[in-house]
Amino acid sequence: MEIADIRTTTAAIRVETLSRRAKRTRLLALGGLFARTGFSVPHAIALTCLLASATPLHAETGADAWLRYQRLDPGMRETYSRLPAVVFASNPSSVIDTAEQELIRGVRGMLGRTLRIGTSLPPEDVIVLGTFESLARFAPGLQQEQPCAEGAYRLKAVLLQGHRTVLIAGCGELGVLYGTFGVLRHIALHQEIEKIDEWQSPHAPVRWTNEWDNLDGSIERGYAGQSIFFENGHVAKDLTRAGAYARLLASVGIDGCVVNNVNANPRVMNDEFIAELARIVAAFRPWGVRLGLAVPFASPKTAGGLDTFDPLDPRVAEWWKQKVDAIYRAIPSFGGFVVKADSEGQAGPSAYGRTHADAANVIARALKPHGGLLFYRGFVYDHHMNWRNPKNDRARAADDNFRQLDGQFDDNAIIQIKHGPIDFQVREPVSPVFGTLHNTNEAIELQVTQEYTGQQRHLCYLVPMWKQVLDFDLRASNRPTPVRDLVSGRSFHRPTGGLVAVTNAGLDANWLGNDLAMANLYGFARLAWDPLLTPREIAEEWTRQTFSHDVLVDGTIVSLQLESWPAYESYTGPLGAGTLTDIIGVHFGMSVESSERNGWGQWHRADEHGIGMDRTVATGTGFIGQYTPQVARQYESLENCPDELLLFMHHVPYTHVLHSGKTVIQHIYDSHYEGAERAQSFLERWKMLRGRVDEQRYQAVLDRFEFQAGHAIVWRDAICEWFLKASGIADAKGRVGHHPDRVEAESMQLDGYSVVGVTPWETASGGRAVSCDRAACTASWRFDGQPGWYTLATQYFDVSGGAAAFRLLVAGQVVDSWLANRDLPSPKPNGHTSTRRTSSGIALRPGDEIRIKARTDGNDRAALDYVELTPEARQEARAGGSP
Ligand code: GCU
Repeated sequence: MEIADIRTTTAAIRVETLSRRAKRTRLLALGGLFARTGFSVPHAIALTCLLASATPLHAETGADAWLRYQRLDPGMRETYSRLPAVVFASNPSSVIDTAEQELIRGVRGMLGRTLRIGTSLPPEDVIVLGTFESLARFAPGLQQEQPCAEGAYRLKAVLLQGHRTVLIAGCGELGVLYGTFGVLRHIALHQEIEKIDEWQSPHAPVRWTNEWDNLDGSIERGYAGQSIFFENGHVAKDLTRAGAYARLLASVGIDGCVVNNVNANPRVMNDEFIAELARIVAAFRPWGVRLGLAVPFASPKTAGGLDTFDPLDPRVAEWWKQKVDAIYRAIPSFGGFVVKADSEGQAGPSAYGRTHADAANVIARALKPHGGLLFYRGFVYDHHMNWRNPKNDRARAADDNFRQLDGQFDDNAIIQIKHGPIDFQVREPVSPVFGTLHNTNEAIELQVTQEYTGQQRHLCYLVPMWKQVLDFDLRASNRPTPVRDLVSGRSFHRPTGGLVAVTNAGLDANWLGNDLAMANLYGFARLAWDPLLTPREIAEEWTRQTFSHDVLVDGTIVSLQLESWPAYESYTGPLGAGTLTDIIGVHFGMSVESSERNGWGQWHRADEHGIGMDRTVATGTGFIGQYTPQVARQYESLENCPDELLLFMHHVPYTHVLHSGKTVIQHIYDSHYEGAERAQSFLERWKMLRGRVDEQRYQAVLDRFEFQAGHAIVWRDAICEWFLKASGIADAKGRVGHHPDRVEAESMQLDGYSVVGVTPWETASGGRAVSCDRAACTASWRFDGQPGWYTLATQYFDVSGGAAAFRLLVAGQVVDSWLANRDLPSPKPNGHTSTRRTSSGIALRPGDEIRIKARTDGNDRAALDYVELTPEARQEARAGGSP
């Protein structure tokens, strides 16, 4: 997506971003609604906008996510006036009862009607739920679809004995549940169901989430509070949220959930703990979600007391068998294990000179008789690599490890492969391993939790990225093999395979810490079900269910979502350089050098001459040679390599000219400025939704956009300054390193504050900040600019372990005050904590004293970086499009 003219902020233009089909449906709906009242469609839209802003919206926590079942407006309810009043389940079971109850709940919410439960087929219009087999008695004409994959369903309106009947026919009870959610989604999206005839079948058999929850209740790479499953080393007492989560997952066709960290605690294999897990299973069961467990490969030794975990030792095989049998006795519906072996310090088969196939099979064989799956992670690499050897390359590791083992894994073993060869960077090529393994089951691992993409403090809708990956044709066996077909097993007729998302939902009411981030979980599931859906269609579906059908809300949120990944990429790490984040730390803020000169793999090799990893076959690490020849050709030559992956594949001088005609260095500068500006626009555009979105979610998202807008500037400046220093090449537009509107804190008159260096240097303006050593400090200066209205942006460091208080005074008058109480992931002033407070509408006169008074708190020493003063007339001129 182009970063186009971002000054086009009017509502009308944003409404244009709705897809044509969606607009037509919406206009028809509005037209139908208002025809009866004599309004024209344009009037209707205007009135809808008015009504939307006039109707008080009740506060929402986000807990309902896309299952809000909001009452439809009266005109739209009319559309469903012929919906039968009775629901009849032809073969009750725990899951089908859930479906029936959910239908009642949804219809009650959206249409204000309580469906009656029929105990037999009633002599009136009816909604009938059941598996294909059970419905054969009632609707003999209803053919069972072939193949009837678990979870597939048909929705069909028929006449049964003269009565209008809506059939929800499922392949198994899961199909009935998913079909029920399908009907409810249609209603929530205002789609008619009176003549419905629809067949839905999941693209991939495996659709699971992985949660990286620790038994102590923390979540590795979780950004939304504590675990919904565990606390204090045990399964949590209150599993209400675990059940509610299973409902959310089921509503979009996810049927497996691994509840604990892949860096697994050996205790999960203890009998007492397995007994506790049965309680999570009970919370999942009504929703047809199977529990999975991450287990250490060394379990026979660490949990079983053997003196070995050698996969070829018969005692080890027997141990796995006994253990798995015991698990299935306690949890008959158990889904299977995930194993992270020989990776980042986790023990693996290399300890005994065995292969990954030996390791996977010993566990898979124990699971096989019970129908369990073994997910063996492809994320295997050496994190003590010698970085001095330019041929060493972490990106090669998965393919190097698994290529020669193709065909040696058992049928219920699945190699779970991250979508790119490194680790969830903002842009990576597709992992070649998907195309390498033809005789092995595969699952693609995607990451809903935004570990390297803003940690839910930044909006980053990842569905467009995943869609590109799933559509990518790896040309395995020299024929079309898009990743979506490789992982689902279709390309090479594998028995199973699919999609897994590392999600890390937490106890925060809105599950992921940011209401807008839930579009990623929704989108993952929808793509797993139907990878031919477009990111826009998914965003539209999600927005209308999660927020509203209000044209302005819908158009704005959909466009924000669609622009967010390209924006994040452009102000963090464009051209395939990787995210440029603190790679050996929390993966949030910037730290360009952290990813170099350490064993965790080289990422960009930027120095004073150039940037990029040479992964060519000709002169580099040879990674490109892991692709099939057609794909490799695209990447091997500089001429063919797409700009967006250039630095992943090639090392080039900063003056290298891209296909776009720009030099690499100028692209780095421009994209950071454009991206940061786009992030400012997100905030402004969100503000237009005030009153159209309930106040609670409005404020929560506003707060995130405020942070993002400021943090995008920190990113921009850090990366641009670093590359200016490294390359010595000036920004052709004169922006980088020139900040005439800034007053550096170290140049202010300081009382109690002292000047400190910030590490890494690029994360503070001029590499320095001021920090308060006392209970309270002040920094001040005298304003000598033009009189007028100004926006003052105070850049400070909101570190963890305290909440400093700031007051901003102009000529002795307090004009703003705030607490540094964001939950940011570092106790130090750096790129993780640099935060911006924007105070607008401040009248300044020459000679005014501007003063910041700060009170420290605990570890928070109220560190300040700078204050930037922008004349508001200039801002308005820019927003209005004047030069
Ligand atoms: C990343 C992540 C780790 C995680 C690992 C994995 O490296 O930072 O926290 O354990 O991936 O996927 O195993």
